[in-house]
Amino acid sequence: MKVLICSSREAAIDRAAGMVADYVAAHPRAVLGLATGGTMLPLYQRLVDRHGKGHLSFAEVTTFNLDEYVGIAPEHPCSYHSYMRDALFSHIDIDEAHTHLPLGNADCVHQEARSYETRINTAGGISLQLLGIGQNGHIGFNEPTSSLGSRTRVKTLTETTRSANRRYFPADEDTPRYAITMGIGTILDAQNCLLLATGPEKAQAVADMIEGPLSAICPASALQLHPSTTVILDEASSANLRLTDYYHHVHPNGEETRFD
Ligand code: PGA
Repeated sequence: MKVLICSSREAAIDRAAGMVADYVAAHPRAVLGLATGGTMLPLYQRLVDRHGKGHLSFAEVTTFNLDEYVGIAPEHPCSYHSYMRDALFSHIDIDEAHTHLPLGNADCVHQEARSYETRINTAGGISLQLLGIGQNGHIGFNEPTSSLGSRTRVKTLTETTRSANRRYFPADEDTPRYAITMGIGTILDAQNCLLLATGPEKAQAVADMIEGPLSAICPASALQLHPSTTVILDEASSANLRLTDYYHHVHPNGEETRFD
């Protein structure tokens, strides 16, 4: 796992956005796995800015989002379909037919989950998977005790996750209880993973992911098994790591050191 600790939240977001932009520039037909959540919003804004300046095209890119709430239609303002449209898709030159999210209001959500796996495979698999991390160590909506080999399926959300997401829903509307999410096994199949975490509230989950035991209590720890994962952090989210000096020694200021 490559651990890049940046001096500030802004620097971490810049670094992550720069890596995604460089990847898309080098692989115009990339299949990107995309994440939602508050952490990703400024990252997407940076990609939109680069596109606006004519520096980045998504014309041939395909995307698969990690998850969507069950029972929420794509048009619902709090759906992840809406999030992606508002934060990224409607501001760039991506072909809408190449953007994929699970359909949360499908007639049979279990069938929808299975067919989502098929769609990912038909596209040739995910080449770069973008990830955030929950305070409870979830990636996607793979809550603690998710099978580390799981595939796309319906998961029941924890109360921690529901309360973290309550702020996005109107006060008179109940927060969804279920989501369709890529499984941990699905995520581990991606060629490359890039996880961005910022802020002190992520510090324990980050330490458990990077240095803790491989364990279903911290689903993100499964990334220890992945051959090409980069974790980008700010100082606050790295505060509980034990080997901080080593990470700074390998990647001073969170810079990547190339050995070739
Ligand atoms: P956040 O969500 O970026 O809103 O903190 C991250 C996650 O739950 O994966």
